[in-house]
Amino acid sequence: MDPAGSEQDLETKEQYASVYVGREEDIKRSERITAVVHDREVVIFYHKGEFHAMDIRCYHSGGPLHLGEIEEFDGRACIVCPWHKYKITLETGEGLYQSINPKDPSAEPMWYSKGIKQRIHTVTVDNGNIYVTLSKEPFKCDSDFYATGLFKVIPSFF
Ligand code: FES
Repeated sequence: MDPAGSEQDLETKEQYASVYVGREEDIKRSERITAVVHDREVVIFYHKGEFHAMDIRCYHSGGPLHLGEIEEFDGRACIVCPWHKYKITLETGEGLYQSINPKDPSAEPMWYSKGIKQRIHTVTVDNGNIYVTLSKEPFKCDSDFYATGLFKVIPSFF
């Protein structure tokens, strides 16, 4: 047995253990809360009967998403970052933008996706309690930059 390997396994296991963040009724009432889940700051929204958790700092430049407004664009609920108004879907973390074909003056502006930019985490409701489990998705997400390293809210050496 490799002791270093097993220690790393344990760390990984702990990092992805779900964390209690609050009571269901309280979060439904406030419609959003912030929490620190294994040193990663997240925001949890309650919107139209569903909970959504994502990295709290906007993938663009680290803006505070917990202070943004939720609006619908192209039928998709988005948090609008208060700093530069980027729109991020609550469900998938995609960055949405509107565009037209400049060569076609009659074209209607259309909504497009930049792909997943904000890391989404899993929310679980159990017996009136809300838990968040950090995303294990192996892709590099732009919001990781502001959720780790120098921008991390709680440095790991404390
Ligand atoms: Fe969020 Fe710029 S920091 S839009």
